[in-house]
Amino acid sequence: MAKLVVAKNLYISYNSQPIIHDSTFSINSGDFVFLTGVSGSGKTTLIKAMYGEVKPKGILNIGGFEVNNISKSKLALLRRHLGIVFQDYKLIPEWNILKNVMLPLLIAGIEKTTAEQKALELLKKVKLSHKADKFPAELSGGEQQRAAIARAIIHNPVMILADEPISGLDEYSASLVMDLFTMANKMGITVIIASHSLPNEFNVKYRQLHIEKGYIYEMS
Ligand SMILES: Nc1ncnc2c1ncn2[C@@H]1O[C@H](COP(=O)(O)OP(=O)(O)OP(=O)(O)O)[C@@H](O)[C@H]1O
Ligand SMILES: [Mg+2]
Repeated sequence: MAKLVVAKNLYISYNSQPIIHDSTFSINSGDFVFLTGVSGSGKTTLIKAMYGEVKPKGILNIGGFEVNNISKSKLALLRRHLGIVFQDYKLIPEWNILKNVMLPLLIAGIEKTTAEQKALELLKKVKLSHKADKFPAELSGGEQQRAAIARAIIHNPVMILADEPISGLDEYSASLVMDLFTMANKMGITVIIASHSLPNEFNVKYRQLHIEKGYIYEMS
């Protein structure tokens, strides 16, 4: 299996306050990974390092890109191949939900009608078709979260980085979302989900990387 993420002696700090210590791990292409740890343990920080928003020390290689030492243009290129679900969703407030979900396809230069069709299909899967022309502020938190997940998946990224994607959702919405991630993973997309805990029922083979006191442990 090709290695998609390689971390060696990874160290991440804010203002010289260490969050992740000397950690070494790798993630293979096609893996389904839960990144667990209590609130404040560093899950979001590690995800941010993986898409180049936080600069770590040591080695962090994502799909052949060394994120420690990456040019702005290469970082933009890397991000085009990632599907990121931010903990605070980051939908564009001035755009309706349909256009928000279409965004990665528009960036990739996909023609508008095709992009629209694909976005509508995904909105249907997350039971949001009826909100396509609404703006993010007109949606509930859970609805915005589902729209953010549709946006992260729409361009068939190489890897999905999802930060607490089901934390605020009821059981039904959470299962819709997990079905989407499972479907993406079956298509070969690597999925990394940061979450306080593991889902109760989940019939997919997964790995658990657990962050505790700044160290990352392989749990399963
Ligand atoms: N920009 C920042 N500047 C300084 N410290 C930060 C910054 N962002 C996060 N931290 C600190 O880093 C630690 C890890 O934060 P992080 O957001 O990665 O935790 P988390 O595991 O995602 O928590 P949660 O489950 O609450 O989302 C926390 O102690 C937090 O206060
Ligand atoms: Mg977090």
